[in-house]
Amino acid sequence: MTDISVEVCGLRLRNPTMLASGVLDETARSMLAVAKSGAGAIVTKSIGIEPRSGHPNPSVVELEDGLLNAMGLPNPGIDLFSKEVKEARKGGVPIIGSVFGGTEEEIAELAGMMAEAGADAVELNLSCPHAKGYGAELGSSPERVETSCRLAKRACGVPVFAKLTPNTSYIAELAKAAERGGADAVVAINTLKGMAIDPEAGMPILGNRFGGLSGPAIKPVGIRCVYEIYESVEIPVIGVGGVTTGRDAVEYIMAGAQAVQLGTAVWIRGEKVFREVCREISQFMKENGYDSVKEMLGVAHSGRH
Ligand code: SIN
Repeated sequence: MTDISVEVCGLRLRNPTMLASGVLDETARSMLAVAKSGAGAIVTKSIGIEPRSGHPNPSVVELEDGLLNAMGLPNPGIDLFSKEVKEARKGGVPIIGSVFGGTEEEIAELAGMMAEAGADAVELNLSCPHAKGYGAELGSSPERVETSCRLAKRACGVPVFAKLTPNTSYIAELAKAAERGGADAVVAINTLKGMAIDPEAGMPILGNRFGGLSGPAIKPVGIRCVYEIYESVEIPVIGVGGVTTGRDAVEYIMAGAQAVQLGTAVWIRGEKVFREVCREISQFMKENGYDSVKEMLGVAHSGRH
């Protein structure tokens, strides 16, 4: 197979695929299984200071072209989760600890604790579209994004990634704010805020009414956001949103993503998706004369290659 290894913010990845936050990443056991199945890196479930049970069920709806979730950031809290991070590192791939908080200070404290637990990098979840007081509520403000990144950088000695919301008309401004705050990379995109109604019942399906749409349906939005961000900042971009095939990954890379995250694709194609997507990327490179992933980076921007 062609060499498809990449380096992102000093992290060496055997391939450009990462497990996205929220899928099979709440226990060391499931993260070790994903590492074994070929992922280049793993992002953990988003973790807060205290244990949290999340939104009432139903919390996930299967749609034609994706999933709508309103999990509500359920997690065991950082103290319990630290053990899982330590254990998950035995899988031999970088572990990126995702954290969320209600304030910039809380996010920074969690970033520090995640790094102390052994995470190779920290992803700040500044973008959950349906958890009151967290995520996009804070992450829709460029000032708060900048401060969160600045404080998180001070609190931990590992790379800091800022995961941004597409539920604004100014994601590139948020990326610039993250860069000003010292973030090492930005991750785009989180889910699109959405809703589903059961016509027979005449009521919203999700317990929380509103949720976040993921999967193939949102890929064009993700590609557009990565493309815009790539033209706005110098720091690396990591693409996420509907990556299901190697071709999807190549699209993101050509838009400007140094690596891609897969979440809903694991539900669609199973854990084997990482190996399959890597094989598909290699095949594409062979057929189109690319010798490295880097050669494909940002080629969709005229004059940038
Ligand atoms: C959740 O746990 O509610 C999903 C996290 C997110 O949308 O960022």
